[in-house]
Amino acid sequence: MSFPEKLKEICKRCGEACKKAWQAVCSFFKGLWEKLAAKFKKNKDGTEEKSHYLSGKEVRAIAKENNRIMRRLEQRKKRKAPESEFVTEMKDPQNILEIEDLHSYFFTDQGVVKAVNGVSFEVPQGSTVGVVGESGCGKSVTSLSVMQLLQGPQGQIYSGSIRFKSLDFKRGADGKPIPIYVRDEKGEIVYDDARDKKGNIRLDKDGHPIKEPRQQRDEYGTKQYEMEEKVFDIAQMPIKEMYRLRGRQIAMIFQEPMTSLNPVFTIGNQLDEVTLLHFPGSSKEDAKKRSIEMLNLVGIAMPERVYKSYPHELSGGMRQRVMISMALAGDPRLIIADEPTTALDVTIQAQILDLLRDLKKRINGSILLITHDLGIIAEMADYVVVMYAGRIIEQGTASEIFHNPMHPYTIGLQKSKPTMDSDSDTLFNIPGNVPNPINMPDYCYFRERCTRCTERCHGEYPRMVQVSPTHKVACHLYDQEGADEKE
Ligand SMILES: Nc1ncnc2c1ncn2[C@@H]1O[C@H](COP(=O)(O)OP(=O)(O)OP(=O)(O)O)[C@@H](O)[C@H]1O
Ligand code: SF4
Ligand SMILES: [Mg+2]
Repeated sequence: MSFPEKLKEICKRCGEACKKAWQAVCSFFKGLWEKLAAKFKKNKDGTEEKSHYLSGKEVRAIAKENNRIMRRLEQRKKRKAPESEFVTEMKDPQNILEIEDLHSYFFTDQGVVKAVNGVSFEVPQGSTVGVVGESGCGKSVTSLSVMQLLQGPQGQIYSGSIRFKSLDFKRGADGKPIPIYVRDEKGEIVYDDARDKKGNIRLDKDGHPIKEPRQQRDEYGTKQYEMEEKVFDIAQMPIKEMYRLRGRQIAMIFQEPMTSLNPVFTIGNQLDEVTLLHFPGSSKEDAKKRSIEMLNLVGIAMPERVYKSYPHELSGGMRQRVMISMALAGDPRLIIADEPTTALDVTIQAQILDLLRDLKKRINGSILLITHDLGIIAEMADYVVVMYAGRIIEQGTASEIFHNPMHPYTIGLQKSKPTMDSDSDTLFNIPGNVPNPINMPDYCYFRERCTRCTERCHGEYPRMVQVSPTHKVACHLYDQEGADEKE
């Protein structure tokens, strides 16, 4: 007796119900077969392909292990720690930011997404460093790690160092910033009559005016304090300590100006907050004056009107300018611009880039510019970092990367740039896809897409090779030492 007939006999119901039962059994066995086949599928070279299928038991085991790691990392972020635990030294005092062997992961139920997997690069003071790479290669995750803004508890800085040279308030024994007072020719502190909020002179018990020392102010009228340089390891900093750096020392221009501004507050509210938060002793009038100056600085016509507007009342270009003015309001030493022009049309793009260039000169700051647009990098960057699948595959000066690209991926990126003098009707593209970030291979991540793959590429992941004092590439083709060792 065949299986359906047996089933009919067991079921003892009408033929229709049996047909449905038979279909359910068939689809169950078909699914099981597909899962088994996927598990033991072989690659072209005969090696076993890693399966994406996870059983319920495996998912539960992954979630349990992830929870354990995430809890430990969250506790480390929320701990109270003395400054000595996260104050460090720069390897090169010329740098403002040094990222060393950074690993930033997302702990998902499918496994660990190694979004940034051992990234090391520096941002020299006063320079622009461009980070390029295709979508999903880990550019934004790198920049969010610098701000400790990864979406927790899943997103975590797992290991590595992010050293940042900050210029922080020098604090007295009471923990308060030390003000800088105006002095006369004899070096004596200048005193003024103290005034209340309404501007009236304050009097003491005997009716004499109260005197207070006159504090120095900058060109925007913001009160000045003594400052000192300190190097912090951001990867080790408790999250509360990050408020000292975010906005004030490191500012970020986010990828989406529309979603980064709060729709329920006016531009003025949001800009004033930066001054009130980061400059102790600033009054609301000081903050408003500074905000309008900042809007002026980024080339917004009628800054008073924009100050009172809500984000939805502005165009995309204006919103991006507001974002830039907000980033500048804290006088940052480092600006991270994550695709600052992606949402803008070409003419506004050019204006925003000019603006960034002018501002960098003005504040003598450094810029970490993230984009997938090579044209922007060529125009703006002094140094370029090329990322692929969470790792740096090439880095060097802008001239080295544009005139002498070495990694097959960088060469492919250059070729895929549209040019006016090309005869071809179609644009060059790099065939294939980035490997699954959960199951990264242990050989070169670019191997499946590379046209120059050699025997050595089937071995371990290529190490970073120094090809000039400023140029490094991670590819076996340039690793003579490794080749000699093998021979
Ligand atoms: N919240 C998250 N949970 C899980 N994975 C994430 C999360 N955010 C980012 N990732 C993963 O991290 C990797 C890097 O993402 P990232 O946003 O840094 O890419 P990107 O280089 O900035 O790309 P784009 O140019 O599109 O902005 C991607 O594989 C992405 O899927
Ligand atoms: S290491 Fe091999 S596979 Fe990887 S980019 Fe270089 S040549 Fe291509
Ligand atoms: Mg991004």
